[in-house]
Amino acid sequence: MNSQYATLLDNGPLIQVNRLSKSYSNGHGVISILRGISLEINLGEMVAVMGPSGSGKSTFLFILGLLLPASSGDYYFLGQDVLNLSRADQADFRRRRVGFVFQNCDLFENSTVYENLEFPLIYAQIERQERPEHIVAALERVNLANRLHHPANLLSGGERQRVAVARALVNQPQVILADEPTGQLDRQNGIMVMDYFNRIVSGGETSMVIVTHDPQVAARCHRVFSLEDGLLHEN
Ligand SMILES: Nc1ncnc2c1ncn2[C@@H]1O[C@H](COP(=O)(O)OP(=O)(O)OP(=O)(O)O)[C@@H](O)[C@H]1O
Ligand SMILES: [Mg+2]
Repeated sequence: MNSQYATLLDNGPLIQVNRLSKSYSNGHGVISILRGISLEINLGEMVAVMGPSGSGKSTFLFILGLLLPASSGDYYFLGQDVLNLSRADQADFRRRRVGFVFQNCDLFENSTVYENLEFPLIYAQIERQERPEHIVAALERVNLANRLHHPANLLSGGERQRVAVARALVNQPQVILADEPTGQLDRQNGIMVMDYFNRIVSGGETSMVIVTHDPQVAARCHRVFSLEDGLLHEN
């Protein structure tokens, strides 16, 4: 851990969100989805967010990943005000700090597992010769190093989800934002993915926010929140 980073950690939580709100305009008016969310997440913490369909869970994750702008509120990441970064610095933040596991695990179907994991590294300007090491290390964490050159469209459902997890890990992000990462998995694969997640955060250098409908997934997180009527409550 470099000294600048260690100093930042001394200054407080990894993520600090204050009174975050988000409204969408849908043609007939403005609908308020998030109505003042405040939350702190420390490094090494795994947090679950539950809540009814349409309550704004994906919206909240997208804002944390700077994939969507907030309507108002503050968001500090390692003490830095990230909502007010320039567009270029926000893109840099997404490339280096955040790993995303999307709700539908959107792999590039006609590419190999290797190519799917190489994409975020290219985007983060990691040199070609350094990429295999990162890719193999991430796949080893989800027990899929034996599928390195497999086309994505020939993977099983469980394997696809594990590749999506490895892709979120490959840049060694400080936070992984996972939207229903076990939603389409059978019980055994769901447990396997949660085992990987628990191992990843146990190193203490990565945090996780997991959106889930599954109480068994939530039970394996350090803290569990419910998002309802635009507000977040700790369970
Ligand atoms: N771009 C948009 N414009 C207008 N409304 C939107 C937009 N994106 C999302 N919404 C609405 O915001 C609400 C919250 O959506 P979101 O996807 O965050 O819900 P969710 O909690 O993730 O639901 P699910 O559990 O079904 O995935 C929904 O009612 C949705 O229709
Ligand atoms: Mg969603």
